[in-house]
Amino acid sequence: MSSSELPTINMGGKQRYYEPAPQDIDVDNFRKVITSRRSVRKFTSKPIPQAVLDDCLDMAMLAPCSSGLQPWEFYVVRSADKKAKLVKACMSQWAAKSAAELIVCVARTDRVNEFSRQMLREWPMPDVPPLVRRYYQLIPYNYTPGPMNSLAYLKKAAFGIGGLVAPVPRGPYTRAEVEAWAIKSTALACENLVLAFRAHGFDTCMMEGFDAARVSKMLKLDSNAIPVMVIGAGERTDDGVFWPQIRFDRSLFVHEV
Ligand SMILES: Cc1cc2nc3c(=O)[nH]c(=O)nc-3n(C[C@H](O)[C@H](O)[C@H](O)COP(=O)(O)O)c2cc1C
Repeated sequence: MSSSELPTINMGGKQRYYEPAPQDIDVDNFRKVITSRRSVRKFTSKPIPQAVLDDCLDMAMLAPCSSGLQPWEFYVVRSADKKAKLVKACMSQWAAKSAAELIVCVARTDRVNEFSRQMLREWPMPDVPPLVRRYYQLIPYNYTPGPMNSLAYLKKAAFGIGGLVAPVPRGPYTRAEVEAWAIKSTALACENLVLAFRAHGFDTCMMEGFDAARVSKMLKLDSNAIPVMVIGAGERTDDGVFWPQIRFDRSLFVHEV
């Protein structure tokens, strides 16, 4: 859709972008996708059609992401040699051994600069609002920790002083904070991915029980790419879910304040 064809609505004399919320979503089916998602540790040999896999990955990448910067990558491990190595790196867990597909989900901390520029190039409206332009011009400075976190601590000190008088962003500044920043959004995409598989009739197991150093080596990832989890996917066997789902009482978690 070219920018001149974007749907708009008149709000107080101004034309605004218009994206109405669809009202015809079947919440019971949505709930069924969520409640029937279980961590499945045994899969049949049924392959996942490429179109299903692609659709699930596309839905994964529609997850919300901090500043829209899409810090994720998904490695669908296909080569027999790499798959065998990955299963081993996953400590030969059942969920890895029997999965039809193994997907390594990776968080990247080093594309903030590149993607900020891309965001401004691909902005979907004719004019990039000045505030948006400023935001994406500034973001790369925000997320650069500098050698041995030197810039990060300078920023922390400056914002800490500013924070005495007004609310300020408290991060991500240090390398660890920038990693957590990238991992957060990537984990959201992972959740989209497993729900998408469920909606297509397939199942998954998220795994962080793997040797990250071996996985990074196998995929030739540098230190700016963090393997967040391996997702095994396939069709569940009749005994693929090992026990009923356990969730503690909601009063432990939900607080109205
Ligand atoms: C980040 C993360 C890492 C996990 N790692 C593993 C794993 O290495 N092996 C495994 O069998 N299950 C793993 N799981 C699955 C959890 O054990 C499972 O989600 C939990 O027991 C709740 O069960 P449910 O997913 O069926 O609701 C992981 C789940 C998450 C979210």
